[in-house]
Amino acid sequence: MVIPQLSNASVCMKDPQRVQDILVSMQKAGSNTLQVISDFDMTLTRFAVNGKRCPTCHNILDDSRLINEECRLKLKDLLNTYYPIEIDTSRPVAEKLPLMVEWWTKAHELLIEQKIKKDALAVAVQESEAMLRDGYTFFFDHLHEHSIPLLIFSAGIGDILEEVIRQAGVFHSNVNVFSNYMDFDELGVLQGFKGELIHIYNKREGALLNTGHFRELRARPNVLLLGDSLGDLTMADGVQDMETILKIGFLNDKVEERRPAYLDSYDIVLIKDETLEVPNAVLRFLTGDK
Ligand code: TMP
Ligand code: MG
Repeated sequence: MVIPQLSNASVCMKDPQRVQDILVSMQKAGSNTLQVISDFDMTLTRFAVNGKRCPTCHNILDDSRLINEECRLKLKDLLNTYYPIEIDTSRPVAEKLPLMVEWWTKAHELLIEQKIKKDALAVAVQESEAMLRDGYTFFFDHLHEHSIPLLIFSAGIGDILEEVIRQAGVFHSNVNVFSNYMDFDELGVLQGFKGELIHIYNKREGALLNTGHFRELRARPNVLLLGDSLGDLTMADGVQDMETILKIGFLNDKVEERRPAYLDSYDIVLIKDETLEVPNAVLRFLTGDK
């Protein structure tokens, strides 16, 4: 293997030779032809720490002082109802799609009722247990140093995820975000969400709405994609004149059930791996750094 970390115990690949070929061809093309597209929740952030689940962008609000107890219980109910559907591989995506829209719509309606103030978000993030994966500083800094654009494409909440990476000191100038952004009234109170809803299974549509971004990056036809859901696989559908794509998937939950589907669709599958060690090793290789 050209990258020793690909022999780590957490790494699974259906076709290691193909991965190697892709890596070599991307390295030859040079890091000035590369763009990185990553999901946020449970991809750049940790899934769990010592067996305890880490929060998603939405969960940061669910667990914060910005919402009342009744709302918190309703949001937890929604999570308990819809999250098992999100990760259920026995149901076709077409069947899950309207249910995901229902989840996001109901959750956002509940949040809007709480009259959340824009200037309270930073404290909510500070007080939360949000945690980026180990190795995040290298990941963000290295991409920045090499001027490689990073698109964070999230069905979470843009304002929250920006705050997480800002507080971690890694919201560099090469980072762009596609996500659900809060819309505040003139008093800074949440009144809705901007633009088209992004949920877990419509990232393709979200990508196609943002042709301007991908047009700017058309000199970068090689893509490194990071995700944790099968819905994340369509994040690169807007990339123009794509030549090569390497997909790395974190398989965090329901491992045995979902392993075959993940191996079929992600080139590298990281099983219960809470770190960015492998993506970082890939980046080091692609940029020619040791
Ligand atoms: P991602 O695209 O950044 O991974 O964000 C989507 C995740 O957000 C997805 O795994 C489900 C999660 N989520 C919640 O935790 N609570 C909610 O209320 C909603 C609507 C989504
Ligand atoms: Mg995710």
